[in-house]
Amino acid sequence: MTDTTSTTDSRTARRSPHETDTLPPDIAQRARRLLVDLARPERKGYIALAFLLLAFGIGNAIGPAFIAQAMDQGIPAAIDGDTAALAVPLIVFLLVTILTGVADFFGTRMTGTLAQRLMVALRKRLFGHVQKLGISYHERSTSGRLVARQTSDMENIQVFLTGSLQEMAIGLTAMGAIAVTLIVMDVRLAIVVFLGFIPLLAVSIASNRAQRRNQRRTRTAIAKVIVHIVETLGGIRAVQSFRREDANIRHIVHEDSEYRNATAASLRNVAWFAASTRLIGNLSMAAVLLVGGWLVIGDTLQIGMLTAFLLYVRRFYGPLDELVQAVTMYQSASAALEKITAVLDAAPEVVEPTSPTPLPARGGFRGEGEPGRLPEGGDGHRPATSGDDRDLGGGRLVEFDDVEFAYGDGVPVLPRFDLTIPAGQTVALVGATGAGKSTLVKLLTRFYDPTAGRVRLDGVDLRDVADADLRAAAVMVTQESYLFGGSIAENIRIGRPDASDEDVRVAAHAVGLTPFIEQMPDGFATDVRKRGGRLSSGQRQLVSFARAFLADPDVLVLDEATAHLDIPSERQVQEALATVLEGRTAVIIAHRLSTVEIADRVLVMEAGRIIEDGAPGVLIDSGGRFARLHSAWEDSRA
Ligand SMILES: Nc1ncnc2c1ncn2[C@@H]1O[C@H](COP(=O)(O)OP(=O)(O)OP(=O)(O)O)[C@@H](O)[C@H]1O
Ligand SMILES: [Mg+2]
Repeated sequence: MTDTTSTTDSRTARRSPHETDTLPPDIAQRARRLLVDLARPERKGYIALAFLLLAFGIGNAIGPAFIAQAMDQGIPAAIDGDTAALAVPLIVFLLVTILTGVADFFGTRMTGTLAQRLMVALRKRLFGHVQKLGISYHERSTSGRLVARQTSDMENIQVFLTGSLQEMAIGLTAMGAIAVTLIVMDVRLAIVVFLGFIPLLAVSIASNRAQRRNQRRTRTAIAKVIVHIVETLGGIRAVQSFRREDANIRHIVHEDSEYRNATAASLRNVAWFAASTRLIGNLSMAAVLLVGGWLVIGDTLQIGMLTAFLLYVRRFYGPLDELVQAVTMYQSASAALEKITAVLDAAPEVVEPTSPTPLPARGGFRGEGEPGRLPEGGDGHRPATSGDDRDLGGGRLVEFDDVEFAYGDGVPVLPRFDLTIPAGQTVALVGATGAGKSTLVKLLTRFYDPTAGRVRLDGVDLRDVADADLRAAAVMVTQESYLFGGSIAENIRIGRPDASDEDVRVAAHAVGLTPFIEQMPDGFATDVRKRGGRLSSGQRQLVSFARAFLADPDVLVLDEATAHLDIPSERQVQEALATVLEGRTAVIIAHRLSTVEIADRVLVMEAGRIIEDGAPGVLIDSGGRFARLHSAWEDSRA
């Protein structure tokens, strides 16, 4: 198992357009567009920053020229009594130095601020998009990869933006400004300096090429480590129950060693590069001193000019080290940005309509088209306030219209079918494992769109309903009742974020959760993750019910949602269900036939088809599939 993970990974990577190794050819362009788009709100800041950097580069370049002037003109004039001739260039040098320092300070600060803002904008966009991507994207892509996008890739971009980008900009402006100054000051010596640049460039290019290779290796290695960690933690129960710990450790040690080797190679390259550039820099200095000294002896160069040149050589070659490193960082940051762009480019398969059709307002006692709200008084909960008028105007009409569905490019899991569920009806869906029950309800809550045909809610195609309306109208509770970090009350309130404490209490009470909550150390405020707050699966299930009850949808889908409810008696489960379901259209998938008993209608599915459809009593009497299931269940209870 362990060893197949990576091969499976690379195979899916090649096949799926969403994965890292197969980026579209114009991705670099799109990544740039993304960057421009993210930076646009801070336009003025970037322009100001460009000026600061330019000021810094020029200031850096002209400083030594004043030293040359002070030495060659100032000192001789001062000897002749004109002290101002020496003082002026020195004061100007000081001023330039101070101004350069100020530009440096503000430039650095501004770079930091702008980079942070850009990162926040990018993170927001990426995280928002990842959450919106269809369930099918998440089924294809491992969550580890998506975590890697949002951690190590973001980190690469951040490191470049906050550090290397500025070094690169400063280095380039400084080198450009210095090159111009050198040519203006003395062309002959300038040529000597530039000649030293040739081997330097060769070394830089070679080093950069090696570094790119290493970076790619480290990135791949670290991404694998992250994927492995995320998946191990996600499946920690299976890991522990099947004693996978040692195998996992071997796996991660193996991947870590690849990471270590790649990092070591990268460090060797950096050391080699730093040493050779320093050597070349010093040799250039010697060459300038040699040629310059010879020119001074020949009286065609003044000593101050030579000093200035020596100062410049340092400043000219100095940034090169950082420049090359910055280029490497640039490459890994742009690779990271490209991968992020690919994720951002993946279109959610279930697309929100641009001009949605509102669902018809619902009659009865509910507010005008505002689900879950009572027009006046009350606390928003029918059961608490409305007693017996339970079926009044409850639920919405659900229609499957010549629907067919296949996952991806696969064979149809649901061959063409029609199904009408009248408003307020409770339908039980039964059938063997893999029959297509979950698939059918996923179409109803629009986790997927049908391959053909339409699913309609009160006559409106789900594809025309705004996301917010749809989420308010149709809610699905599944077996994996997921609790988020936070208190029990907060977890219930997810159903309707603006619910009052009293609403939350009423919802908990309605589903029979109150006795459990009273046993918890802090009641409703108990943190579900902290010591003593851990809930059993059945309790988590009840929290999900309370959530759904609070959300008060028109259509409620329960997929195996009662599977964990063994703690209360069957009767209690039925009561909780009846409370949650009343006044809605409901589809329940349950293996437990006692929950089926409360249904108005039973649908039996087999291999994607509905093979029986009728009231439970009628089906039992007719002696078909459901009747056999039912009598088997009766026997098991006896
Ligand atoms: N995400 C998916 N991608 C591809 N095929 C899938 C996917 N989910 C389910 N299937 C396939 O669709 C068929 C129906 O699955 P579905 O989950 O609807 O069954 P079910 O009736 O809910 O079964 P169970 O009672 O075990 O929950 C199965 O053959 C399954 O392999
Ligand atoms: Mg299922």
